[in-house]
Amino acid sequence: MKKLILASNNEHKVEEIKSILDDYTILTLKDINFNQEIIEDGTTFEENALIKARTISQFSGKTAIADDSGLSVELLGGRPGVYSARYSKEQTDDKNIEKVLFELNGKKSKAKFVSVIALVKPDGTENTFRGECHGEIIFEKRGNNGFGYDPIFYVPTLNKTFAELTPEQKNSISHRKQSLEKFSQFLKEENNEN
Ligand code: IMP
Repeated sequence: MKKLILASNNEHKVEEIKSILDDYTILTLKDINFNQEIIEDGTTFEENALIKARTISQFSGKTAIADDSGLSVELLGGRPGVYSARYSKEQTDDKNIEKVLFELNGKKSKAKFVSVIALVKPDGTENTFRGECHGEIIFEKRGNNGFGYDPIFYVPTLNKTFAELTPEQKNSISHRKQSLEKFSQFLKEENNEN
């Protein structure tokens, strides 16, 4: 089975990525004994995903991938965006959600989840793949599945929030599914050429 190192210790993300990329063996930072902090000081999802994947490819000497993702709320000018994980002072899912709802102050807004997968090879080659999933913000949390902003991210066509979907349902439509699909397609085409 093909092996990839994923530059993440976020258990939720790791689970989703493992289940979407089920024909790969995914190693995480724990598996390669990487314990340092990676400073994500980019201003775009692409920059931050590349910072993480580049750090880990250089550390391991192997091919690495990373996911940088977040919620972009239309009425908030795209915030929290790349700051999604650390939007509130407390940096917890509950407080981050509270801050988004406080800033919206009862106004309905469209929103999208974005996931960018970066692929960095030991020879320094770099590629990024972006996936987006569109929905709306609702004002009370619904559902217990998923993580992060899932309980307030509502998909009108399903009449459900992401947190009300099963993992299989979320993984079949999510931003992460879409970025990983582009990534897999790229690897397939690359392998066919060689
Ligand atoms: P990152 O680890 O810097 O990419 O931060 C990602 C953050 O964006 C997470 O901590 C969540 O707050 C949010 N996020 C990303 N993907 C999802 C998702 O699928 N559902 C809910 N929140 C997400």
